[in-house]
Amino acid sequence: MPDNNLLTVDELKTYFFTDEGVVKAVDGLTLEVPRGRTLGVVGESGSGKSVGARSLMQLVDPPGRIVEGSIMLNRADGSTVDISSLDPRGPAIRAIRGDEIAMIFQEPMSSLSPVHTVGDQIGEMIELHWGYTKAQARDRVLELLQQVEMPKARGVIDSYTFELSGGMRQRAMIAMGLACDPSLLIADEPTTALDVTTQAVILDLIRRLQESFGMSVLFITHALGVIAELADHVAVMYLGSVVEQGSVMDVFHRPQHPYTRSLLRSIPSLGLEKKRRLEAIRGMVPHPFNRPGGCPFHNRCPEFMPGVCDQLVPPLEHLDAGRTVRCLLHSDVDEVRARQEEQAAAEREAAAGEAAAQRSVGKRGGESR
Ligand SMILES: Nc1ncnc2c1ncn2[C@@H]1O[C@H](COP(=O)(O)OP(=O)(O)O)[C@@H](O)[C@H]1O
Ligand code: SF4
Ligand SMILES: [Mg+2]
Repeated sequence: MPDNNLLTVDELKTYFFTDEGVVKAVDGLTLEVPRGRTLGVVGESGSGKSVGARSLMQLVDPPGRIVEGSIMLNRADGSTVDISSLDPRGPAIRAIRGDEIAMIFQEPMSSLSPVHTVGDQIGEMIELHWGYTKAQARDRVLELLQQVEMPKARGVIDSYTFELSGGMRQRAMIAMGLACDPSLLIADEPTTALDVTTQAVILDLIRRLQESFGMSVLFITHALGVIAELADHVAVMYLGSVVEQGSVMDVFHRPQHPYTRSLLRSIPSLGLEKKRRLEAIRGMVPHPFNRPGGCPFHNRCPEFMPGVCDQLVPPLEHLDAGRTVRCLLHSDVDEVRARQEEQAAAEREAAAGEAAAQRSVGKRGGESR
């Protein structure tokens, strides 16, 4: 069966090894980015959206690193590569970045240089990846600026970024993202810093560009309303993992995870009368240092099952129509308990074996002295 996904992320874990302890920023991220479609990723602040996105391009800085999992990219030439196994500074990932996967951020100045003109910096990327001459690259930059509907594109090409308005900078960054015709554009809250009107204009632009370029878009936001406008599929993140993924229609109309249901109830535009108080999700997102055992959402969940949700880690369950959910309401609890107890026993046994081996090495070391 042909794989219709451009990117398949499986049980990805990205941890930060700090002096204070290990921050499990991404902890078992599983998601699928369909070819030529937009996947929205939504979650509260601190749920691991940005670290997850940066992991997909091997852009996590020390003390962070990918510790487990896979990121399979189906390439245009028919081959497949596991990005998680590539050297973050090696030539293979550098060839993918910008060319096959590009990223745009909330703050354009983090990816645009203040000391080069818009034309020079976008052009340089095209020269580098596509081997264009300066003149060819300049033509392509002008075409891109027109595609992102940059006002006065012919003048902007020779401007510096500080001379542009917020909305124009965002357009320049999008043009830079699109420069090498990537198969995947990752947009990390690209409109959050803009005023509401500019936000709507930029979202509309991204939607139209996705259609005309035919690329996949992974659109990250903390706002479910934006997902409804832009995405075909949605992945809901909580504390470093995806708790529910499916088509926007299915997830919005038949949410299966209590966290998704809480998120949907907390936004005003989806069928709530104005006067009714919005239901905020109770409690705070726990810091990744203090992740609760069992289901990470159990201390906030309205459907918490004592003795179950605080003891068992919800496995990924596949529902109908390509939907996935991580909630024990959808699992066979006895089966999960038996499996996890077996696994814990095997881990205890392995640890005991290792400790015994170390003791025996220590003893031999002592004897040889
Ligand atoms: N450089 C870092 N060192 C330690 N922890 C980090 C670092 N970067 C991010 N984190 C932690 O990882 C978690 C996820 O962060 P992030 O991906 O930025 O969340 P989001 O984008 O969903 O708001 C947060 O708890 C954050 O504090
Ligand atoms: S596993 Fe339990 S605590 Fe977690 S979301 Fe489901 S019902 Fe709530
Ligand atoms: Mg973020």
